[in-house]
Amino acid sequence: MKMWDSFRSVARFAPIEWDATSRRLAKVASVDDLRRLAKRRLPAGVFDYIDGGAEDERTLGANSSDFATVEFRPRVMRDVSRLDTSTTIFGTPAAMPVILSPTGFTRIAHSQGELAVTRAAARAGVPWSLSTMGTRSIEECAEANPTGEKWFQIYTWKDRGLVEELVGRARRAGYGAVWLTVDTAVLGRRERDVRRGMTLPPKLGPATLVDGAIHPGWTWDFLQGGPITFANIVGRHDEDGSTAITLADHVARQFDQALSWDDIDWLRSIWDGPIVLKGIQTVADAKQAVSMGVAGIGLSNHGGRQLDDAPTPVSLIEPVRQEVGDQATIICDGGIRRGSDIVKAIALGADAVSLGRPYFLALGAAGEAGVDWLLDFLRSGMERTMALTGCRSVAEIDRDLVAWKR
Ligand code: FNR
Repeated sequence: MKMWDSFRSVARFAPIEWDATSRRLAKVASVDDLRRLAKRRLPAGVFDYIDGGAEDERTLGANSSDFATVEFRPRVMRDVSRLDTSTTIFGTPAAMPVILSPTGFTRIAHSQGELAVTRAAARAGVPWSLSTMGTRSIEECAEANPTGEKWFQIYTWKDRGLVEELVGRARRAGYGAVWLTVDTAVLGRRERDVRRGMTLPPKLGPATLVDGAIHPGWTWDFLQGGPITFANIVGRHDEDGSTAITLADHVARQFDQALSWDDIDWLRSIWDGPIVLKGIQTVADAKQAVSMGVAGIGLSNHGGRQLDDAPTPVSLIEPVRQEVGDQATIICDGGIRRGSDIVKAIALGADAVSLGRPYFLALGAAGEAGVDWLLDFLRSGMERTMALTGCRSVAEIDRDLVAWKR
């Protein structure tokens, strides 16, 4: 009897969870766990396309690990019974200072692709961005997320008429800001993709077939979803999704390597909303952007996918803020994996952060519910960090809250 009582005092019988996705997510505690789950569920080539970086992946690693070189100076006894993570970005309210970065080929992780991500962003009250290399159209996404804040990302194609047409469609569909990605004059060398001969859309060679067979959940979903296309530029050029090409080929053929500062005026003539330069990596370029009236500085190295040994976004926040003062909105893009990273970036002087892989991998790990899980994890992590450091609002997160570790 005594033995039974002892057992009963510690035994816990959880109700059976019938939903497979909820069962999977119940075991996830961090972005690292989501990544592991995505690695199990996705074919290796797909996982590596999302997860990988350029060359030796030093910048990819440093983007996150640099956050560990910042420590808190927590204040205590500050009545943190009410916390507010909300902010405004370009005058639009956001539930927290987080933006979902644009990522191409999102349907490769899940057939709903961008539609799932944009719906989750709307529920969480944060801006979401569509890549021009997206796999759902500008209009479809606006229909899925009619009221939430949406941004559109462009590269500069040699065909400027195409860019103008896309930007016009984005304006008509209610998108509020444009990212101009400036770090992709040529495509970075992503050696995991080179090794696997990865093409987009994926080519069905014997290796892909075997990989698909051992990832039946992904394969079934992929086959249900219909052909993956560059949904916004179908019918233009040769990239209609019917033939597989490498991303490097697309960039080499279509992107304009002559992109220069002179193009900012041109972009302003076709888009009257905020422009964010995505891929600023020096104080000098941030200064130049501000001098040309650019509203947003996206401190980014493309998630370590372009130039290896580029500086990390977190290391640039403070010097750039010192240089540009309040003249621009600063967004730290890359390496954010926790709510505490968001608080650190804000303390160093960023207005907001943006992130790519965490939601892309969440989508691969558990579909739309995975993205919901991630956004809730980031918000609750930010709240917990604010409570433990004595900040009640985003405005109270200031430079005194953090120090660089010696
Ligand atoms: C990207 N990124 C990106 N950026 C962009 O401007 N246009 C694009 O089409 C893409 N596509 C893309 C695909 C994939 C699979 C990844 C992982 C990233 C870069 C993205 O917007 C963002 O800068 C990084 O993802 C930020 O780094 P983290 O959050 O992934 O560490």
